[in-house]
Amino acid sequence: VKGGYDTFMDKEIHEEPMAVAETLRGRTSPSGRLMLDEMRIGESVLRSIDKIIVVACGTAAYAGHVAKYAIEHWCRIPVEVELAHEFRYRDPVVNEKTLVVAISQSGETMDTLMGIRHAREQGSKVLAIVNTHGSTIARESDAVLYTHAGPEVAVASTKAFIAQITACYLLGLYLAELRGNKYEDEVATYLDELGKMPGRIEEVLESEEDIREFARSLADATSVLFLGRHVGYPVAMEGALKLKELAYIHAEGFAAGELKHGPIALIEQDLPVFVIVPTPRRPLLHSKVISNLQEVRARGARAIAIAEEGDTEAEAYAEKVFWVPRTTPTLMMPLVTVVPLQIFASELARVKGYDVDKPRNLAKSVTVE
Ligand code: F6R
Repeated sequence: VKGGYDTFMDKEIHEEPMAVAETLRGRTSPSGRLMLDEMRIGESVLRSIDKIIVVACGTAAYAGHVAKYAIEHWCRIPVEVELAHEFRYRDPVVNEKTLVVAISQSGETMDTLMGIRHAREQGSKVLAIVNTHGSTIARESDAVLYTHAGPEVAVASTKAFIAQITACYLLGLYLAELRGNKYEDEVATYLDELGKMPGRIEEVLESEEDIREFARSLADATSVLFLGRHVGYPVAMEGALKLKELAYIHAEGFAAGELKHGPIALIEQDLPVFVIVPTPRRPLLHSKVISNLQEVRARGARAIAIAEEGDTEAEAYAEKVFWVPRTTPTLMMPLVTVVPLQIFASELARVKGYDVDKPRNLAKSVTVE
């Protein structure tokens, strides 16, 4: 059942290239135009929306955070990302001009379900991005864009996260095309880039042993920080969540720019700090994160960079670099940068003797509020 892997989580990490490919499959025409047949929300409604609110929990919410950067860039529609349980119990501004996008692997998360019920009561249309066919969230939404990651057995979400980002990107590109935004010309280019991502994830998986070996050297860490900027920020939060839930290590992910606003006080000798470095081809973004890396290193922390091949500055300042292939454009980077973090967390759990597939106190789907 585990396809030769020790754990379902390892198997599912190795299925990530397939998860992207399957989520893309059949959704573009040979001419490169997007076809989302399951988009049962009318085009006139989609043209008239003035806001998107992503409603989700945990890892699925981090996929939503990544999507915000892409959808706002491509579509010029404001995107908010809300944890479903917070969305439901405040008084959110939602109406018929709001598209609520619910993201859920299981499709059964009660917090998310209550969020979409609330949104529909206010007259919004709900689009679900769900992995499990026929699940409650899928049934109760106006339209469903399925992620085709296949069943995810390990409690910690990995391939579903990758597929959720892919599906959100399809949605963003679809809306950009439909609404005739200035980025319409770029749609074909981005679709092409998405199509290359399975191969790039495969490349990251080739360094799995190196990542695992390094992880074992950190087995005694009691606290680990993750920082990132732009799309690296949600990836940092996801890296921290994986480590908490699997290896039971205190971990925190935050926006790299926040470092100087407080968290820098935490930096001390030998503290492991992961820094998700943007591509050097975005010099402004890159130089800021490189200076964070320097600041962390100057205080004696063990700086670990996730960086693009050929990034000599990241190499100069980090104690260790987990390389990812060159990925144009920046928006595609989360699909590769999260992979070393998933492998890292799974290896730390393993060396500590924990159950990688079933971390303590957790359930695969959280069906209570
Ligand atoms: C983390 C994890 C959880 C889920 C969250 C939402 O690895 O698995 O944070 O992402 O409980 O679950 P779904 O996506 O089923 O709604």
